[in-house]
Amino acid sequence: MGSEMRIPHTRRDFGELLRIHRIRRAATQHQLAGLSTVSVRAIRDLELGKAHRPRRDTVRLLADGLGLTGRERVEFETASAAPGWATPAHDLTAAPPPAPLDAIVGRDAEVAVLTELARSGSQRLVTVVGLPGVGKSRAVLEVAGALGDLPVLWSDAAAEPAPDTLAALVRAALGSPGSARGADMAAAHLAELVGAAAAVLVLDGYDRDDVDRAALPVLLQRCPGLRIVLTTRVPWGLAGERVFPLGPLAVPAPDADPESVPSVRLLRSHLSRLQPGFTHTATGVGALCRALDGIPSALEAAASALTVYPLAELVEELADDPFDIAGEHLDTHLRRAVATLDAPVAALLSRLVGLRGGWSMTDAVRASGLRAGVCAPLVRALLVRGLVRCADDTDRTRFTVLGLVTALYRARRLTAKEAM
Ligand SMILES: Nc1ncnc2c1ncn2[C@@H]1O[C@H](COP(=O)(O)OP(=O)(O)OP(=O)(O)O)[C@@H](O)[C@H]1O
Ligand SMILES: [Mg+2]
Repeated sequence: MGSEMRIPHTRRDFGELLRIHRIRRAATQHQLAGLSTVSVRAIRDLELGKAHRPRRDTVRLLADGLGLTGRERVEFETASAAPGWATPAHDLTAAPPPAPLDAIVGRDAEVAVLTELARSGSQRLVTVVGLPGVGKSRAVLEVAGALGDLPVLWSDAAAEPAPDTLAALVRAALGSPGSARGADMAAAHLAELVGAAAAVLVLDGYDRDDVDRAALPVLLQRCPGLRIVLTTRVPWGLAGERVFPLGPLAVPAPDADPESVPSVRLLRSHLSRLQPGFTHTATGVGALCRALDGIPSALEAAASALTVYPLAELVEELADDPFDIAGEHLDTHLRRAVATLDAPVAALLSRLVGLRGGWSMTDAVRASGLRAGVCAPLVRALLVRGLVRCADDTDRTRFTVLGLVTALYRARRLTAKEAM
């Protein structure tokens, strides 16, 4: 559509909306003046974008004259009140990423791949998906730091942006499922600001139901140099979306030296802060990391539990119920993830849960009785949902079902439907 390429200005946007409503009602400017008691000149100036922000009572009279009610009226009033989002004070560095609080552990390969994708712009919409607390935001924060001069606009779904800031503009541009018109204008503003510049927009922690999903393709179309990196728990399912599953940190094999393995290093770094000068045995720490699948948020919780629990006792406790430490939210999330799998994926998972240690695609084919071409996308679906992970960092062709997922099955904590 030709009009999509044009970037309307806020004030003209209200004018356009006014004109659209007037024409839809087959009224001339004179007739609308009669109906609304607003002068013909005022209506003409507004439609031409010559008049600056209309007064509120003028907008009310116009809305009455046009007979606008409900959502149409709200949109009309919102359009007239469009705040000065993109004031000249805004530049693309006005919504920077937060400063990392401590050093990242591991993730070299993931950060390198994501940085290259964002820098080259070869993939303009990259969605980093993974379980809650797996480290999506932390990994992308590292990417932002590695991008050097490339401007990064960071929008955190959990933070309420201050009014009239670039962050507020980004938020408004994402819209919400029911506010297409306001979002359109904010997106136009943002597009005006970004122009053709190379920039990375990080949307951190947005769920696909939080926003008007269609806003993303529109932004990408209007800003040819823009790349979007999204962190979220479930892919959005947009055309051209490159899904990047982020698994937990590697955990040590029972017989391997655990010390250089990322999950152990992260747990040790928490412990050294909480219990300076105190050392836990390598076997115990390794066992703890395995029991928690190397999920960073769970490791953080384990470290604080260790300030009051002896390690051996904690490991024993976790064998009974790992969610005691991993957290109820992971329990809920994993159950929902299992419950919402498509039937063939769920059926495959129930076979894979029984396989011990790392398995290859050949093993999965054998265990499921499926053809390789059918089995591979199903395993991929399990990786994307975070229920299956790579068995270790160096060999990306061996996989394993998360220990936490196995625990759900073993303890029959899944309902019949969930465990089908
Ligand atoms: N590789 C890492 N090194 C050090 N700390 C990490 C690492 N990954 C995650 N963390 C820390 O673990 C915690 C959880 O990570 P993060 O917030 O990035 O998870 P998330 O996947 O974005 O979760 P959510 O889905 O809830 O947004 C944070 O405190 C984060 O700083
Ligand atoms: Mg996050």
